[in-house]
Amino acid sequence: MTPHGLPRVIIVTGTDTDVGKTVVTAAITAVLHRAGRRVTAYKPTQTGVEPGEPGDMAEVTRLTGASGLDGVRLHAPMAPRPAASLEGARLPGLAAHVSTIRELAQSHDHVVVEGAGGLLVELTEAGETLADLATALPGSAVVMVVRSGLGTLNHTMLTREALARRQIRSLGIVIGAWTEQPTVIEQTNRAYFDGLAEGVLGAVPWGAPALAPAVFADQSATWLPGLVQRLGTL
Ligand SMILES: Nc1ncnc2c1ncn2[C@@H]1O[C@H](COP(=O)(O)OP(=O)(O)OP(=O)(O)O)[C@@H](O)[C@H]1O
Ligand SMILES: [Mg+2]
Repeated sequence: MTPHGLPRVIIVTGTDTDVGKTVVTAAITAVLHRAGRRVTAYKPTQTGVEPGEPGDMAEVTRLTGASGLDGVRLHAPMAPRPAASLEGARLPGLAAHVSTIRELAQSHDHVVVEGAGGLLVELTEAGETLADLATALPGSAVVMVVRSGLGTLNHTMLTREALARRQIRSLGIVIGAWTEQPTVIEQTNRAYFDGLAEGVLGAVPWGAPALAPAVFADQSATWLPGLVQRLGTL
């Protein structure tokens, strides 16, 4: 934990793949960057990329200007273990990711770590998950990115229960994409999340990834009032 109340290592997980983890990682990074914090991002396992092809961390850098690092990069657009197995590649172990994150944390105030898929996707040959990585980084906390629509209540509560069972601290929920005209289902889902102990840090408006990077960075703080509140200085 840094003196200002936010953990040094912020781990971004989601209820599924494609829920907006990368965009939320970028928004969190932008808020911290704008607040004058030295911040970098890390993706332990990036699948679905050709050599040299930009991955999620390149998207974070494009949107925020902050640096981002891939741990291992794999070609197949699928979960890391089967992707590595198809390529005959060996995945780094949990200790390697912990050591990279600790190293990044020495030269930055915050490291924002983006998982692959959801919380319990296996990231290593030994079958360790993002939950295991969070457990191996005492003082870290998790941000949970969720969908707004039908089905999200169950997925969110399952992920939340998996975090609680492992005593992993949750900083709060972020809705990955929020339209200007939410349906009744979306509104009641959001109200339900608001009532949870950790609450909602914010929601990224629909279309945010298409904004010009300067606008994205300018607006990020307004999307994540719960994060800004914890930051305490904006
Ligand atoms: N707020 C939003 N408005 C519109 N499109 C969005 C929004 N957030 C995310 N997207 C789009 O949805 C897709 C998935 O988002 P993103 O890449 O952030 O998901 P992810 O959870 O990081 O996926 P992965 O598990 O592959 O890392 C991307 O094409 C992204 O541009
Ligand atoms: Mg992503």
